[in-house]
Amino acid sequence: MELATFELLLGAQGQRVLHEAAESYGRVDDLTLGTRLRAAGHPPELVAAAIGQVALRRRAASKLGAEAASMYFTPDALEQATRAAVSAHRADRLQTLGPRTLVDLGCGIGADLVSFARAGLHVHGVELDPVRAAMARENLAVLGLRGTIELVDATTVDTASYDVAFVDPARRDGRGRTFDPQAFTPPWPFVESLLAGHGVAKVLPGIAHDLVPDGVEAEWVSERGDLVEACLWGRAFAGARRRATVLNPTLLGPQGTATLTDEDAPEDTPAGEPGEWWYEPDDAVIRAGLVTAVAALTGGWLVDPHIAYVSSATLVVTPYARAFRVLEELPYREKQLRAALRAHDVGTLTIKKRGVSVVPEVLVKRLRLTGSVTATVILTRVQGEGRAFLVEPVSAPRASA
Ligand SMILES: C[S@@+](CC[C@H](N)C(=O)[O-])C[C@H]1O[C@@H](n2cnc3c(N)ncnc32)[C@H](O)[C@@H]1O
Repeated sequence: MELATFELLLGAQGQRVLHEAAESYGRVDDLTLGTRLRAAGHPPELVAAAIGQVALRRRAASKLGAEAASMYFTPDALEQATRAAVSAHRADRLQTLGPRTLVDLGCGIGADLVSFARAGLHVHGVELDPVRAAMARENLAVLGLRGTIELVDATTVDTASYDVAFVDPARRDGRGRTFDPQAFTPPWPFVESLLAGHGVAKVLPGIAHDLVPDGVEAEWVSERGDLVEACLWGRAFAGARRRATVLNPTLLGPQGTATLTDEDAPEDTPAGEPGEWWYEPDDAVIRAGLVTAVAALTGGWLVDPHIAYVSSATLVVTPYARAFRVLEELPYREKQLRAALRAHDVGTLTIKKRGVSVVPEVLVKRLRLTGSVTATVILTRVQGEGRAFLVEPVSAPRASA
């Protein structure tokens, strides 16, 4: 969208078209709606922008909740925007650390900025893209939040006058989930320089541990079971070396946060034969290298020093791992495994695997199971050897509202 079109959308006529598009959305197809709005005398680019905006707002609701219905997006900026629960967690954590002012160095349409402002920080957003900058300004305004936006290159900003310099760099090519610091904009050396002081950076969760600068905390965050980001807390704010934070309203309630750090992870955790209970750690815990913390929490041990599964003789319900009861060990070899599963009348099978070269979907097909029972099998390496276990997921208690 051109800036001029966005400005038109914000005017009285634009708001009328947007309102009409929102009212009719889903009741008539886009083509009919567009024809009708153009026939009423509205400019084609405004009509297209309004219909596109309504579709983006719908899409944004899963990420940003109900308030997405009054915000503005471009498709790419929405793709890059931080989920509301995750930005709120970051903002709440910052707020407890005491800063008052924050500059967001590449604020996009302002999803993080909104959460920072809502947490009570005085925010200033900086953005290179004029349309995104204009949208960020409007998004703060429509949500009744205060803040300023500046159209400028973030690398030229003097961050010394702010308590926090936040950066969520874009990938230059706009694609991919792999962590390649060379592809960042603003560039990685700039991010690193901020982290030496009062910087906070959102990065892809695939960041290698050895890229985290000394004295900086890396916090891996999962939301509803999805590993979504790593947040690097500069020296001024670091509280640990590695942290895993689990945000899961179903397990923990709407504001619930569960967090583990390297302090919780013993260095020497033995590996041993699987016991009655099996734990599959959350991906944030795995990426943070804190699987041994789950072993400590559950009174358990690793089943293999190189595999991210924990076993224990006791059931401990924890937000950091999914628990399974081991029903029995099954043969690992395919033919004998098929016979054992058929003897259990299994028809629908979920395979979980780690450390073995099995493609679950392919194996499930090859097993050709036709029974009536639904089952879960874990295939893994235990002390270097492939093993199979029939397990039953433990349903986690839901948090009370
Ligand atoms: C990943 S997005 C930020 C998303 C934002 N945190 C949110 O939740 O909505 C990164 C933004 O940085 C902007 N950007 C990249 N390099 C920049 C620079 N040198 N100066 C200012 N903005 C920049 C991009 O245009 C993009 O909008």
